[in-house]
Amino acid sequence: MISVIDLHKQFGEEVILDSISVDFEKGKTNLIIGQSGSGKTVLLKSIVGLHFIDKGQVLYDGRDLHAMSHRKKRTIRREMGMLFQGSALFDSYSVADNVRFPLDVFSNMTRKEKEKRVAFCLDRVNLKKVNDLLPSEISGGMQKRVAIARAISVNPQYLFCDEPNSGLDPKTAVVIDELIMELTHEFDMTTIINTHDINSMVGIGEKIVFINNKHAEWIGDRHSLLNTTNETLHSFLHSSKIIANLSN
Ligand SMILES: Nc1ncnc2c1ncn2[C@@H]1O[C@H](COP(=O)(O)OP(=O)(O)O)[C@@H](O)[C@H]1O
Ligand SMILES: [Mg+2]
Repeated sequence: MISVIDLHKQFGEEVILDSISVDFEKGKTNLIIGQSGSGKTVLLKSIVGLHFIDKGQVLYDGRDLHAMSHRKKRTIRREMGMLFQGSALFDSYSVADNVRFPLDVFSNMTRKEKEKRVAFCLDRVNLKKVNDLLPSEISGGMQKRVAIARAISVNPQYLFCDEPNSGLDPKTAVVIDELIMELTHEFDMTTIINTHDINSMVGIGEKIVFINNKHAEWIGDRHSLLNTTNETLHSFLHSSKIIANLSN
């Protein structure tokens, strides 16, 4: 579980997040939703420690990331898998080299062990016979799978995904969502996903926090989402739905 407690983040004078408190649960796909510019990426980066925070705590199963020494932070970093916006693969590395990269940096595995792990992860995301290809030689959906394989290569306890669907057609987007949810259950990870895709919210929102006007406006799940009496959330969903219908 990752507990965010009274998190406050500003850039200069501009307050982006004010007193966010929410628990992200183990073995679940936890979503951060909100309009573009609402602070989802800033929140995710604050959670993983890519941003300093101005106040509050982020507890990784009780361990306070922002309060600990660099050495302890590194231990927690090894327990994280990240899938950031775009797929951010290395263009000049083969698919297999991309997946192996975190193992080279973070693990003490032998070459053989790494090879085995790379093969396992690529197989697990249903990619076959692409090991030696470059990212530019495979489809966008396949690139996402490679990025997911890379994120899980280190066998993380915590998985972070920033808009994992962006740039995919709606059908492929659903497949990628379901893959992330399956892996979350299978490996019992605490997964946090930023999204403004209504299909994702309804499909894999096992826990959802809605960020609006700098704070956690609403916390619930995919079942309570559609029956919400929160007017701000309701109008956000309504505008998302119209956009989703237009783009289908
Ligand atoms: N490094 C930064 N310095 C200053 N302002 C930033 C920085 N990163 C993000 N912001 C601001 O924080 C706000 C929230 O951005 P972001 O988290 O990217 O939104 P979202 O991911 O929900 O679309 C925006 O107003 C953005 O301009
Ligand atoms: Mg963002």
